[in-house]
Amino acid sequence: MIDPSSISPDSATQRTIGTVAIRWHGHQLELLDQRLLPEEERWLAMTDATGVADCIRDMVVRGAPAIGISAAYGVALAARSLMEETWREALAEAVAVLAASRPTAVNLFWALRRMETVAGSCETLVEAQQRLTEAAEAIHAEDLAANLAMADHALSVMDEDKPFSVLTHCNTGALATGGYGTALGVIRRLHETGRLERVYADETRPWLQGSRLTAWELSREGVPVTLNADGAAAWIMAQGSVRWVIVGADRITANGDVANKIGTYSLAVLARHHGIRFMVVAPSSTVDMTLASGTEIPIEEREGTEVKQIRGAVLAPESVDVFNPVFDVTPASLIDAIVTEQGVIEQPDAERMAKVFLPG
Ligand code: MRU
Repeated sequence: MIDPSSISPDSATQRTIGTVAIRWHGHQLELLDQRLLPEEERWLAMTDATGVADCIRDMVVRGAPAIGISAAYGVALAARSLMEETWREALAEAVAVLAASRPTAVNLFWALRRMETVAGSCETLVEAQQRLTEAAEAIHAEDLAANLAMADHALSVMDEDKPFSVLTHCNTGALATGGYGTALGVIRRLHETGRLERVYADETRPWLQGSRLTAWELSREGVPVTLNADGAAAWIMAQGSVRWVIVGADRITANGDVANKIGTYSLAVLARHHGIRFMVVAPSSTVDMTLASGTEIPIEEREGTEVKQIRGAVLAPESVDVFNPVFDVTPASLIDAIVTEQGVIEQPDAERMAKVFLPG
């Protein structure tokens, strides 16, 4: 049964922002436990930074922007329980605990740096408590605003004259962000404007963000979605109705290389082969201009049990070795457009990235 209040419009824009995954109550952070979807909608309440870090590490909350937003609230929560004499050191420890939760999505480190800058400019603990809360709320609200802006920018470069299909990977929707979504926000907007024929959602092995989250998020809102096994993507592209592959990002480097969910790189290769355009949609908090190229991005590897089992059901011999990188890097040369809230960078390279992200 759909709870209509969970698919609420943003009060500023009146646009439907999708399924809410992060709720902030001033004294506690509530996270929708995404490990249990789609069977169960259970909220977990966090009151300290360690709890938030555990939720990020264990995938209660996931998706680059949502990780950054949650970490920012984690710092705000940490500040609430500190003592005047030692709050700066204790806050730095909380930031370190949050920073150690997951390595690839740069939004985490971006949000923590922003929170540290705010803390560094505060004279007293009381001031820090107030301003860190405001900063976390601002990061949350800005992410939603960025998603709405990106959807508009993205549509401006999609010149198809009749409704078309797209293919997406992982979950980049309201569940992964402050609301609406990055790649899924663009897909939502295509649907809202009558330009979407169908979205093919890769199931996204091994964690199944596509089948458990994207298919759920879209189908409960009436967006036409077809779930497919990851291995079916080439065959779907060969049928001819998919015009764009649209994905999110966890880190974009100075030359336009993109780290995103494992399997994204193979989609980019397939798209090029089939003459299908490839779009990456991410807020500028995902851009890391300190890294020259994707080879420098730390790629998270998770436990082999994520591949060998699904919710305890055994899928492989217990003793087999597993390689489980959960992100890959798509070279900029395979990307037709990177969309941020600042606009669209077509055929990204170091020069075009620098024009937007290193102005002057
Ligand atoms: O491991 P996850 O689920 O955190 O990975 C998520 C992705 O790779 C998303 O595509 C990316 O974070 C963009 S979410 C708007």
